[in-house]
Amino acid sequence: MARGTVRSRDGALLAYEEAGSGFPLLLVHGFPLNRRMWAKQLSLLGRGRRVIAVDLRGHGESSVPPGVSPPSFSMELFARDLADLMDFLGLDGIDLCGLSMGGYVAMAFLRSYPERVRSLILASTRATADPPEGVEARRAVAERVMAEGMEGLAREMTPRLLGPEAPREVAELVEEMIRGTRREVAAADSLAMAARPDSRELLARAGVPILVIHGAEDALVPVEQARAMAENIPGSLFRVIPGAGHLPPLEAPEAWAEAVGAFLSGLG
Ligand code: MLT
Repeated sequence: MARGTVRSRDGALLAYEEAGSGFPLLLVHGFPLNRRMWAKQLSLLGRGRRVIAVDLRGHGESSVPPGVSPPSFSMELFARDLADLMDFLGLDGIDLCGLSMGGYVAMAFLRSYPERVRSLILASTRATADPPEGVEARRAVAERVMAEGMEGLAREMTPRLLGPEAPREVAELVEEMIRGTRREVAAADSLAMAARPDSRELLARAGVPILVIHGAEDALVPVEQARAMAENIPGSLFRVIPGAGHLPPLEAPEAWAEAVGAFLSGLG
């Protein structure tokens, strides 16, 4: 397993790790997590291909540019960081997988760099923008974490992220990732998600293979919403992972890797 860091064009340090060889699959984590959520997938999927997991700026071992305080993010900025990482690694194209907020980043990447996307895996995510009450809720989360820190959010969010069958060590890891995220970063994520555009049209005319993959017990993004997203994308595949909540790559790693591996193998 190789690890490294890259400087983004505006000076953020981006940490990544990778396993395997072949056409690259880039994995993008959700909110307010980091690349540790992909550890099992690096070993499972890395058996058959090159898999790269990155910490978005500010998350995990990645930093924000020096002197920028508090940080301000957008899905486009995260997407530009992925392009900088690809340039550093000498990659023209990728299979791109984003989970939840990572899915919003993947959509932003497709919008800005369509020629660099061979296929897209949209995991536990949605294509719609937030409705007004959703935007309000994001602002409230940003204000709350700035006032109180991450403890309360970690305690409340962890059970909502996981399905009823999630093992205890998975819950512990998720809670640890949330607690370890800096409050300014979580607040900036929340405001950036609130500002994201609707991507349904973008996906409908993407013209690349797309897999929509979702946990049957997802309490954050109902599986029916993912099904509707897939139905709106001509030629897309839709897979449901039984028994898993919002984080199937952690909750049902083998089943999730098998579905993603089968999709990627079909691309040749
Ligand atoms: C995530 O898991 O990345 C976020 O919870 C997604 C969201 O809130 O829309």
